[in-house]
Amino acid sequence: MSDEKKTIFSGIQPSGCVTIGNYLGALRSWKNLQDDYNCYFCVVDLHALTVKQDPAEMRRRCIELYAEYIACGLDPEKNVMFFQSHVPAHSELSWLLTCISYMGEMSRMTQFKEKSKKAGSNVGLGLLCYPVLMAADILLYNTDLVPVGADQKQHLELSRTLAARFNNAYSDTFKVPEPYIPANGARIMSLTDPTSKMSKSAENPNAYVSILDEPDVIMKKFARAVTDSDNKIVHDAQNKPGVTNLLEIYSACTGEPISSIEDAFAGKGYGDFKKAVGEAVVETTQPIRDRFKTIMQDKAYIEKCYTEGAQKASCTANKTLAKVHRKMGLAPHKL
Ligand code: AMP
Ligand code: TRP
Repeated sequence: MSDEKKTIFSGIQPSGCVTIGNYLGALRSWKNLQDDYNCYFCVVDLHALTVKQDPAEMRRRCIELYAEYIACGLDPEKNVMFFQSHVPAHSELSWLLTCISYMGEMSRMTQFKEKSKKAGSNVGLGLLCYPVLMAADILLYNTDLVPVGADQKQHLELSRTLAARFNNAYSDTFKVPEPYIPANGARIMSLTDPTSKMSKSAENPNAYVSILDEPDVIMKKFARAVTDSDNKIVHDAQNKPGVTNLLEIYSACTGEPISSIEDAFAGKGYGDFKKAVGEAVVETTQPIRDRFKTIMQDKAYIEKCYTEGAQKASCTANKTLAKVHRKMGLAPHKL
């Protein structure tokens, strides 16, 4: 790894199929940044266990997500690509950071509040501690930049707070990371409820488009996407969230500015527009589907890549962890 380059860390949970939200909000930035940074791309499997998963399905999704990283254009030779659970330093630093975290700040996280509203008093402790594990992921690698979608901004702010708090208490140790949120595609909304985020763990598969959905499925999902009744294609997040979301997806896929899309579709109906959005998504994702099928035929290659990835990640992570042990006053060791 080059010393002059800055470092990137990011991850996705294997909690469902990778959606076009994940792709436009995160994976595409990773692909575009991989040549200019030392990158760590992690399948954050431990985060996915904060809600109950079926073990067989979880195992399948983990491998598929790793293959999807490669299919999206991430190069396992150039980047360090691995599973979070294969580098135990993540869990351990998470505990050490838990010891400097406050109940108040954790229970104020928007995502925790939303999830605990649904779960009531049986909300899992893992959901509360989730952002601490995310901070551990990032801080282990002296990360400069974290490319994520807009929904992760608050969690990233917490990582920055914990890094600064530790440095303050125990002397300078962690780099304080910066977010990288794309200008376009940072918050793709659900196709069935455009006031909430598109999520891969949604119960209704019509709410999201997976990057692996076949073209006819993609076209159908867009044809059914919730819009409104006035048949005008204009960007207006307040009053027309459905159409606004489709405009943003189209713009993120084609690179065309929103205003010129509005001009091009002036006077046309929603039917034509939805078809065009569907086609833009099919075209953007087709190369990913093709590569995914090829990669999944070579499980030995996938295993080799993630094993080497974990070995490389462990080297850096263990050095940081040893430093943290020392600073916090644990007995000296040469492990
Ligand atoms: P997750 O699906 O929660 O594991 O998220 C993985 C990455 O995708 C994170 O960087 C998220 O911010 C990003 N992401 C998830 N959903 C969306 C969405 N609907 N729009 C844009 N980015 C998203
Ligand atoms: N919490 C992130 C999400 O749900 C996933 C994640 C875990 C992550 N650790 C991370 C993202 C570290 C960036 C960096 O989207």
